[in-house]
Amino acid sequence: MTDTKPVLILGGTGKTGRRLAERLTSQGIPVRIGSRSGSPRFDWEVPATWEPAMQGLGAVYISYYPDIAVPGAAETVGAFARLAVANGVTRIVLLSGRGETEAQRAEEMVKASGADWTILRCAWFSQNFSEGFLVESLRQGEVALPVGPVGEPFVDVDDIADAAFVALTEPGHVGQLYELTGPRLLSFADAVAEIAKATGRDIGYIKSSHDEFTAATAAYELPPEIAWLLNELFTEVLDGRNETLTDGLQRVLGRAPKDFSAYANETAATGIWSN
Ligand SMILES: NC(=O)c1ccc[n+]([C@@H]2O[C@H](COP(=O)([O-])OP(=O)(O)OC[C@H]3O[C@@H](n4cnc5c(N)ncnc54)[C@H](OP(=O)(O)O)[C@@H]3O)[C@@H](O)[C@H]2O)c1
Repeated sequence: MTDTKPVLILGGTGKTGRRLAERLTSQGIPVRIGSRSGSPRFDWEVPATWEPAMQGLGAVYISYYPDIAVPGAAETVGAFARLAVANGVTRIVLLSGRGETEAQRAEEMVKASGADWTILRCAWFSQNFSEGFLVESLRQGEVALPVGPVGEPFVDVDDIADAAFVALTEPGHVGQLYELTGPRLLSFADAVAEIAKATGRDIGYIKSSHDEFTAATAAYELPPEIAWLLNELFTEVLDGRNETLTDGLQRVLGRAPKDFSAYANETAATGIWSN
């Protein structure tokens, strides 16, 4: 970027957005947090809040909430991208997901918006185990999910934030789609075992049935779209379609992605998984 116009970071207090904001701020690049706690307030569910947040921007990083796989996400993200372009935004970096029909439709919407786009199509975040819905069960010593030995190349959100930072601040990334994965396929049981080893605790993994999982999510009184999403992710998307490693992070960053064991060791040291 050649000017000092702010970067609007949607989801700027979330897993990737917060880290991207830190990286840009540390380099003197102004950021505007696009979330319900931002100023001005940005709410995906209140389109009247979109335009005030996009005035005078140099670029936008889109991390959609609750999830880019949710039905209707593509239309919403597309409407946002077109409005941004109409308001003079030329640069958009989209955080997307792998093997998800709705996510890939959202990518097409952003590509068609007229913006200079970059897409970061990401694997499961390692930080779902420490900054998401799995923390509590890890603390309690047992994780039960309706997923068997399928391999997932968990990716570290620090690597995603590094990639977003590079895409926004260095030339050569416009019109590029990067699939971002970690360096190793792990089953969910493998990932839990790595965390157990890193914490020195006994933490079990159980493959639950679809019905057991539905009952467990109901007990947490999750919003219906989150319950739908978890079911979709565990019973549809984790069917082996994403069981591949990619060189996306190597291409953007010129280095290997962080391994899950490094994430597990660093995160265990914070005490977040201690009971
Ligand atoms: N998690 C994964 O493994 C994974 C993998 C691939 C792709 N993705 C994609 O990454 C994106 C973010 O997912 P995440 O799980 O990591 O979430 P996250 O970034 O941790 O999400 C929380 C962020 O969303 C904001 N937010 C919540 N409700 C909002 C609303 N109504 N309007 C505007 N902002 C709102 C929150 O700020 P406030 O509370 O201040 O509003 C916060 O900044 C999703 O689109 C997902 O599809 C995730």
